[in-house]
Amino acid sequence: TTVFVLNGPNLNLLGRREPHVYGNTTLDDIETLVREKAGTLGAAIMFRQSNHEGQLVDWIQEAGAQGAGVVINAGAYTHTSIALRDAISGSGAPTVEIHISNVHAREGFRHRSLIAPVSVGVICGFGPMSYVLGLEAVHHVMTERAR
Ligand code: DQA
Repeated sequence: TTVFVLNGPNLNLLGRREPHVYGNTTLDDIETLVREKAGTLGAAIMFRQSNHEGQLVDWIQEAGAQGAGVVINAGAYTHTSIALRDAISGSGAPTVEIHISNVHAREGFRHRSLIAPVSVGVICGFGPMSYVLGLEAVHHVMTERAR
């Protein structure tokens, strides 16, 4: 399988940003973890980050056009973006929504996700491991669908 691991706004600051919420692990550290798991699964990974909503839309469309899956931490766009939701449903790319923190244990505005209804499922609250679990989940769904 090919899986796009997409990161939205402010995730470039991981490790320095609110470490009491998000921990000390950087996005580069997370990429290393994801690539290790991808190696054992035999998955090819496109690991990307952007602070720009439209860039994320372009990447989701690219994943769909390639028949790739998506693991996305959309950051705050999770809670606001109809454009990301439409990109996921329109592209047909099987998508797993992930979050580092347990968004349901936080402010009320983080409890609603606009992308969850068009995702295969949601993983949140496991820190950097949420990415690894998300990769396993989307890889599983794609290999089940292919057989
Ligand atoms: C986040 C949770 C979001 O609510 C927040 O806006 C983020 C990070 C997480 O990974 O826990 O930027 O997606």
